[in-house]
Amino acid sequence: MEERQIKSRQRVAERGEVFTAEREVNAMLDLVKQETERIDSRFLEPACGTGNFLAEILRRKLDVVSRLYQRQVAGVQLQSVIAVSNIYGIDIMMDNVEECRQRLLEILCEWYPRALPGSEAPAELRQVWQYLLERNILWGDALTLRLPVNADASEAEKLNAEPITFSEWSFISDMVMRKDYHLAALMQAQTQSVPDLFSDLGDEAHLPPKPVREYKPVHYMKIATFYDTQH
Ligand SMILES: C[S@@+](CC[C@H](N)C(=O)[O-])C[C@H]1O[C@@H](n2cnc3c(N)ncnc32)[C@H](O)[C@@H]1O
Repeated sequence: MEERQIKSRQRVAERGEVFTAEREVNAMLDLVKQETERIDSRFLEPACGTGNFLAEILRRKLDVVSRLYQRQVAGVQLQSVIAVSNIYGIDIMMDNVEECRQRLLEILCEWYPRALPGSEAPAELRQVWQYLLERNILWGDALTLRLPVNADASEAEKLNAEPITFSEWSFISDMVMRKDYHLAALMQAQTQSVPDLFSDLGDEAHLPPKPVREYKPVHYMKIATFYDTQH
């Protein structure tokens, strides 16, 4: 099937929107092959478009889930949730964000009957995948690290735009803990370092970022309903 790399000439001119071809996506991901094949490795694509990279990362992770958890329902379900919970994206165009979320959801739904022949993904699990995709693939401006504002917005409006806030999902067995962070704080924490007190080699350690909100642990199948009632 022919790949569509542009949506319109106007979008190419205004946003540099040219999607990466599958061959290049695979060649680039092969440079970090081991990470793409680790179910819980974390990926963030700050200008994800419709998800050419994220879709391939998800496919690779799901292949590993099928291989390691052959026909084990509980393992397949939990590991698929862990895989998707570690995939993050941002795009400034809302239609790209929605297409990306939908595309990843379809990959999950089509993969499930291959991992567990003779069954469809249960509605409860699909709801969890969908919830995570809505929380992890965000509409935002990766340059300001805030929600996009109109081109004619004042400086004050730009500075007051809502910060991009990602959720970290940590799993202990089948319970999940959610912590929300401003992306700006996550990035700052990566660049700030302090001497590592536990190393006598003079190594540097990174200061942990401060979450803006922490939630109680919940069974992973309940996250969609549980977190929605917490707001
Ligand atoms: C060259 S395309 C690449 C898309 C995707 N990464 C791929 O390789 O197929 C660039 C993408 O960046 C998005 N974009 C442009 N400026 C952005 C910004 N400031 N913040 C977030 N996304 C942005 C565009 O909407 C477009 O989807």
